[in-house]
Amino acid sequence: MSPSSDLRTVLVVGSGDGTGLNFSRSLALAGGYRTVGVDTTLEDFHASEADARYLVSWDDPADLVKQVNDIAGRESADLIYAADTSPELLAVAEARDDLVAPTLLPDRDDHRRMEDKWATWQALKEAGLPVPDTVLVGSRDDLEEIMARHPRVWLRRRSGSGGAGSIATGSMPLATAWLDEHSGWGQFTAAEHLSKRTATLSGLWNDGELVCSQLRERVSWKYATLSVSGVTGITGAQRTFWDEELHELAVRCVRAVCARPHGIIGVDFTYSHDGTALPTEVQPARFYSSIYFLATLGVNMPDLYCRLALDGGHGLPGPAANPIRETHYWVKSVDKLPRLLSPEEFARG
Ligand SMILES: Nc1ncnc2c1ncn2[C@@H]1O[C@H](COP(=O)(O)OP(=O)(O)OP(=O)(O)O)[C@@H](O)[C@H]1O
Ligand SMILES: [Mg+2]
Repeated sequence: MSPSSDLRTVLVVGSGDGTGLNFSRSLALAGGYRTVGVDTTLEDFHASEADARYLVSWDDPADLVKQVNDIAGRESADLIYAADTSPELLAVAEARDDLVAPTLLPDRDDHRRMEDKWATWQALKEAGLPVPDTVLVGSRDDLEEIMARHPRVWLRRRSGSGGAGSIATGSMPLATAWLDEHSGWGQFTAAEHLSKRTATLSGLWNDGELVCSQLRERVSWKYATLSVSGVTGITGAQRTFWDEELHELAVRCVRAVCARPHGIIGVDFTYSHDGTALPTEVQPARFYSSIYFLATLGVNMPDLYCRLALDGGHGLPGPAANPIRETHYWVKSVDKLPRLLSPEEFARG
């Protein structure tokens, strides 16, 4: 605990973009926390709403870990949280045992499996869960095989976030050119093309047990025309909902992919054209960028997450499966609040 106060200090790696801002705002709403932001770009450093802010640059993971540890030590951090899918999250997760403050992360093997969408798909398939027809594209033959079965396929990287590199196509020349252009052979999957409708479960887990969960449905992607696939990773509107069957399926997906679900884990569904919800990702270790939505409705998962990490679950309310059953909408644009800076202030770091 921070020596100077009763506040718990949470170090947030990646604090200044959507995921980190929503996490920090949720903790500010709960009260009792002091946040320390560690960011790697000037934009995120300036946009951060953390109580203390640091700008770092790093080349190899050991370099980042050293800087995070120095800052965590100086700020008496009680907990370290990496807010977004990124090389920083991977570095923190791999070095968890060498950090000077605790983390709350899925076990290493579980985390690696979830970061790899192909390995995730294989685990879901093996467990007999419904999945979109998918191949790992190692060669033209793999592409031809799946394109013979479906008029359109969805190409995406097996790792990463924001739907980066995704494209829908029914054209073999375009698909091969796309994979050439993105050095994607062996790194991309091709799946049957599903509908635009999506849903997601955010779940907080403690040593294999579900602590709190909530389903939401995305209504629209913001700026959909700005990306080739229509997916931008930036949700425009979304709503809460309840669907017992889907909730149960999401829990089964997590258990199929994780030996011991632990920490925050999301399950993303994309519906087929006939209305069947199919898991397209099990997202490990970090909250989605709109988690403040749920906090404003009284389900403050980042607060629960920190209390779980810091106090081992003592004093937490009992398990809450989808506590918000009624529909609430959340409409947003890019999450950053504007901040006025002179060129000198901007460049100072
Ligand atoms: N087979 C598919 N057919 C149609 N759309 C798909 C398909 N697979 C994924 N998508 C769309 O792409 C979106 C992004 O999915 P993906 O799992 O690649 O996310 P990501 O890159 O990990 O992004 P993030 O985790 O930041 O949301 C999904 O929400 C869905 O809208
Ligand atoms: Mg993802």
